[in-house]
Amino acid sequence: MLMMFQQLVQVCQVMVIISFSSSITSLASDLLPPGEVAALRQIGKTLNEDGRVSFNLGDRCVSGKNVTITRYPPTIEMNGTIGCSCSIAVDKFCHITSFEVKGYDLSGRLPPDLANLTYVERIDFTRNNLYGTIPVEWASMKNLSFISLTANRLSRNIPGYLGNFTGLTYLILSSNNLVGTLPEALAQIKDLTDFRVSDNNLNGTVPEFIGSGLCATGLQGPIPRAIFLLEKLKDLRITDTSGPEFPLLNVPKKMDHLVLRKINLNGTIPEEAWSVVTTLDLTFNKLVGELPSDKIRRQFTFLSGNMLTGTVPESFILSNQYL
Ligand SMILES: *[C@@H]1O[C@H](CO)[C@@H](O)[C@H](O)[C@H]1NC(C)=O
Ligand SMILES: *[C@@H]1O[C@H](CO)[C@@H](O)[C@H](O)[C@H]1NC(C)=O
Ligand SMILES: *[C@@H]1O[C@H](CO)[C@@H](O)[C@H](O)[C@H]1NC(C)=O
Ligand SMILES: *[C@@H]1O[C@H](CO)[C@@H](O)[C@H](O)[C@H]1NC(C)=O
Ligand SMILES: *[C@@H]1O[C@H](CO)[C@@H](O)[C@H](O)[C@H]1NC(C)=O
Ligand SMILES: *[C@@H]1O[C@H](CO)[C@@H](O)[C@H](O)[C@H]1NC(C)=O
Repeated sequence: MLMMFQQLVQVCQVMVIISFSSSITSLASDLLPPGEVAALRQIGKTLNEDGRVSFNLGDRCVSGKNVTITRYPPTIEMNGTIGCSCSIAVDKFCHITSFEVKGYDLSGRLPPDLANLTYVERIDFTRNNLYGTIPVEWASMKNLSFISLTANRLSRNIPGYLGNFTGLTYLILSSNNLVGTLPEALAQIKDLTDFRVSDNNLNGTVPEFIGSGLCATGLQGPIPRAIFLLEKLKDLRITDTSGPEFPLLNVPKKMDHLVLRKINLNGTIPEEAWSVVTTLDLTFNKLVGELPSDKIRRQFTFLSGNMLTGTVPESFILSNQYL
């Protein structure tokens, strides 16, 4: 009887040890490398530079899924995820894979130390109030596939190094105070499907491209024309650029949205433009020619502020309140 009791105690001790050690391993598997934890600290400070709100980022990969983000007071729109994975590398650590902090109303700067999170593929700072430049440090983030910085107060130029991010599919920089020209290197991003730079103060003149990105010196055009040759592009929005007039020669096939408002387009509307699926906005350019009466079938078509002629088809009037 006593022996049985002692055996039971031993079994219990073994079980206690097992469950204790398993809780240690589960903690260990949530660990981020010290470099990523240090970067998170600094990123939190840079985003909330003025300390206007209470904003904190965790230091663990919770359940192998995310790092906690806390903001006090909360905003109605805030929607953030710092994603992480514990199987992305063959080391004993978890790593941060995405950094999305949308609608947090933070008024600091874009954090250069984000570049220290080398496994990050997505960056989204939509709808904050961040100022300053797109950091040069980010040039080393070769795994990026998605960048959205829309609706902030970013200034200065769009850095040319973005053209080196060959895996980029989304590049959304609209509604900031960016100036200068569109870097011609952007035309190298062959997988780009969504490119928006509307509502900035872009201007200037860049060398024209021929076909696959060869630069023909001496020729001038306000936007690198190779942008229009990116075959996978589904969404392109560029508005209010100054610069010389130029014709729209190519439109990628099967686009969902094409918004080229007030960018000094001249000449006629190319045939492919009529196959844009959802939104076609070419308003306030210097386009000429006749509207094809049989081709305008999409929901949103905006062409006013040009010198177009022809009978406006009934389908067009019905679908276009701004004409
Ligand atoms: C991020 O990396 C840079 C370059 O290696 C280093 O100078 C910097 O201290 C790092 N940031 C943090 C917060 O550790
Ligand atoms: C948060 O953002 C994701 C996309 O990143 C979206 O799918 C989701 O609907 C958003 N949630 C809210 C509450 O807006
Ligand atoms: C983080 O992950 C947990 C567990 O998977 C989930 O309940 C929570 O909503 C996630 N938080 C965010 C901000 O995505
Ligand atoms: C792009 O990468 C190439 C090769 O690594 C490098 O020489 C070039 O300076 C980079 N371009 C920019 C704009 O950073
Ligand atoms: C374009 O913007 C730059 C930087 O703001 C400015 O220096 C330049 O004068 C502008 N050029 C034109 C043609 O407006
Ligand atoms: C468009 O404007 C450019 C620059 O002024 C001019 O060279 C070209 O002939 C114009 N094209 C058309 C079709 O009007």
